[in-house]
Amino acid sequence: MFRTDYCGKITQKDLDKEITLSGWVHRRRDHGGLTFIDLRDREGLVQVVFNPQISEAVHSEAHGLRSEFVIQVTGKVALRPEGTENKDLPTGEIEIHVSDLVILNRSKTPPFLIEDDEEISEVLRLKYRYLDLRRPAVQKHFILRHKMSQAVRQFLNAQGFLEIETPFLTKSTPEGARDFLVPSRLNEGTFYALPQSPQLFKQILMVSGFDRYYQIVRCFRDEDLRADRQPEFTQIDLEMSFIDQEEILKLMETLIATVFSEVRGILLPSPFPRLTHKEALARYGSDKPDTRFGLELKDLCDIARRSGFKVFRTVVENGGLVKGLNAKGMASLSRKEIENLTNEAIARGAKGLAWMKVSETGLEAPITKFFEPPLLAELRKTLEGEPGDLLLFVADKAQVVHDVLGSLRLSLGKRLNLIDENVFNPLWVTDFPLLEYDEGEKRYVAIHHPFAAPMDEDLPFLESDPLKVRAKAYDMVLNGVELGGGSIRIHQDEIQSKVFALLGISKEAAESKFGFLLEALQYGAPPHGGLAFGFDRMIALLAGVDSIREVIAFPKTQKGICLMTEAPGDVDARQLKELHIKKAQKL
Ligand code: AMO
Ligand code: AMP
Repeated sequence: MFRTDYCGKITQKDLDKEITLSGWVHRRRDHGGLTFIDLRDREGLVQVVFNPQISEAVHSEAHGLRSEFVIQVTGKVALRPEGTENKDLPTGEIEIHVSDLVILNRSKTPPFLIEDDEEISEVLRLKYRYLDLRRPAVQKHFILRHKMSQAVRQFLNAQGFLEIETPFLTKSTPEGARDFLVPSRLNEGTFYALPQSPQLFKQILMVSGFDRYYQIVRCFRDEDLRADRQPEFTQIDLEMSFIDQEEILKLMETLIATVFSEVRGILLPSPFPRLTHKEALARYGSDKPDTRFGLELKDLCDIARRSGFKVFRTVVENGGLVKGLNAKGMASLSRKEIENLTNEAIARGAKGLAWMKVSETGLEAPITKFFEPPLLAELRKTLEGEPGDLLLFVADKAQVVHDVLGSLRLSLGKRLNLIDENVFNPLWVTDFPLLEYDEGEKRYVAIHHPFAAPMDEDLPFLESDPLKVRAKAYDMVLNGVELGGGSIRIHQDEIQSKVFALLGISKEAAESKFGFLLEALQYGAPPHGGLAFGFDRMIALLAGVDSIREVIAFPKTQKGICLMTEAPGDVDARQLKELHIKKAQKL
């Protein structure tokens, strides 16, 4: 038997017991003729002591131990001598007096210390991920992840959901990203796509009558990667039949509130606050607003129209927006610092960033001369300007104004220390538009996906004014992160055809891409809807880390590379031949 106990679990209750432990040598110290080892396993550290008076041979063998050697020790649990206790360690009251030592394996000197507070470059961490994952603070994230998935399963099982697997080798799914493709050996010239989500299959499971489905499932999207995006990531994916939007929101917020409270003791508000998509954009400049702080955007179109400032007036006259936000207490910024903010705004697409400082005597800036004093007073009142504040303005197309001020709001929130990291502010964003117009492609595109149902009262606008149509779609947002999203689906063929037509998806294209779903919908599809949560993002939020790479055991870099395995890699010519693939000559 390798062990009787875990290192990190030994306490005073085990005093005088003879135990056997197996683990890694964390640290070794030689001291007054004794050798001390901190022995580590998943559950923590314990101090083991090699004393020549207990065994000369074992003590001398302990001299050869090095960091990360794997050893087995047998010995007695004893109290540490008075004054040598370690209050920071759960096992800090005791130590093990070793009588037997087996070296199970040796280790090369690791490229970094296996310590929580070591500053290690991410490149090194990911190359030696197995060593990085030995660090207790890193392991903690995966224990949390495990507990969360258990709690989610438990909740959903109790609510009558069935866990059903769906294929990975499948056809392209329309979630809007690029597909990863897998060439078929048996069917020359054809490809599977790895699913961007199980969307089509879960809808088909509803047609099959399973009523409530879930899966904690890997999804694959070939998109540009960021801190909150990986090419393969995990969703908690759900679908339900005979249910309306209201019931879904209720059930899903109960799920999240339950697991957050069970696993981390976090109490979320009930019900979750809600914002329509329109209001979220208007007030926060974002469809995933961080509502832990204010700095809300204010509409100044009316004031702009009445001003003599041409930049503002022309934008409003041409159907654009002028909005402002109050950077509280930032009037002390120098010209140079304001220029930096302006450059930040320009980098996000603005043409400029207008500003005014609030002083005891009023508003001050080169542009105040374009505003009559009563208009300045109105401006200041709208933005609740107090002496010492800096007012910032952007005039542009609505999307640019929201983008720029929304991101400025976030960076100012951080800079002004307005964000309480211990607060969890969930909300629903509802009433998304069904479509948006893609200027690049010159066509309508679905905001969620082509299967989201239009709101009943907006159906008449499908033909007359498509951009006015709202979808029965919803996102759950937590602290500015899009945690999940979903919709009620179209379950009637005629509406689905109309939406495809709007999206410029021809009958033939629809047929070849997802004909199987369209056909299935014709055999008695029940009304249904669902949602998917980004599980990695959820864990990252709970763990308080910025990047989902921290909570994925073997993540990929920004360039989609696994530094440990060095995937993606070359394959040999025979493999390519079998797959009927020829590499293009590099130009
Ligand atoms: P959606 O595309 O919004 O919806 O995805 C659901 C959630 O998955 C997370 N997510 C990601 N997490 C990490 N890396 C990525 N590349 C990534 N992309 C998305 C987000 C997001 O909210 N089938 C629909 C759901 C439905 O309608 O039921 C879907 O996939 O947290
Ligand atoms: P100008 O009249 O171009 O010298 O600009 C005067 C001020 O307005 C400068 O601070 C610019 O950064 C700012 N500005 C210019 N265009 C815009 C715009 N579209 N929105 C907000 N501010 C702008």
